Amino acid sequence: MAELIGGCGTSHVPSIGIALDRGLQDTPDWKPFFDGYIPAKEWIAEQKPDIAVVIFNDHGNAFFLDRVPTLALGVAEDYQIIDEGWGKRDIPPFKGAADFSWHLADAMVEGHFDPLICREIELDHGIQVPMELFFGRPEAWPVKIVPIFVNTVQYPIPTPQRMWELGQLLRRAIESWPGDERIVVFGTGGLTHQLQGARAGFMNRDADKAWLAEIGPNPEKYRDWTREQFVETFGSEGAELIMWLVMRGAMDADVRTVMSHYYAPASMTGAGMVVLENEVHATEEAA
Ligand code: DHB
Ligand code: FE
Repeated sequence: MAELIGGCGTSHVPSIGIALDRGLQDTPDWKPFFDGYIPAKEWIAEQKPDIAVVIFNDHGNAFFLDRVPTLALGVAEDYQIIDEGWGKRDIPPFKGAADFSWHLADAMVEGHFDPLICREIELDHGIQVPMELFFGRPEAWPVKIVPIFVNTVQYPIPTPQRMWELGQLLRRAIESWPGDERIVVFGTGGLTHQLQGARAGFMNRDADKAWLAEIGPNPEKYRDWTREQFVETFGSEGAELIMWLVMRGAMDADVRTVMSHYYAPASMTGAGMVVLENEVHATEEAA
């Protein structure tokens, strides 16, 4: 059985990657944001996961609006970095945990989730930025990845309840996998932002801080929300936060919030991070 070592939630704002490309981490605008991730990098370096399952959305890069799968799963051995229009970024391609991906594909179909299965696909900032925030800019990534794509771009997006159930299924797939890999799950996106329409620029710092405080101890509150509540509270793109519920649904009922960090604004968003461990895992590690 593989081991779930923890769950992380993080923003994936593209300008974070551009700030790294331009070496702006220590400028007054960015330093408080990047400094907040130093403990997260230390945590993941100590935990040494073998596989990162990353739940994220593509932003019209690999899938355009003419065909948007509600759920897609990468099963590739390798994933290239997509060019989002600024030119190809100088970060290494990702290695896929293809065997575990196929196991998860089978578990998803068995559990009636029926994802689009992607043997070849390029990955955008939705996954690049979380990896850079937690692993820095290595020559080669120290983990293999399993990308789970969720449509949070074109309505109708899936429900928060469905995301939670996908997380529960992911947990069962981890526990039924005969390998002994250490697995970390990333939920990405958010926090509040709206990039379009009458409320463009909308931010809700109080809601962001409540989310970071409650996603560990009180996730049922958000699991039971409607999609409309997500959009009203966090903005149309802030509704990406439903993807953190996959991560949270994969964890135990009782978790410890190891750390969290909030900084706003980053681009036009509230930027946040949380690291959760199952209580049992936290106790065993301490023993
Ligand atoms: C922006 C884009 C995103 O995908 C996101 O999640 C947050 C912000 C942006 O363009 O500012
Ligand atoms: Fe996004």
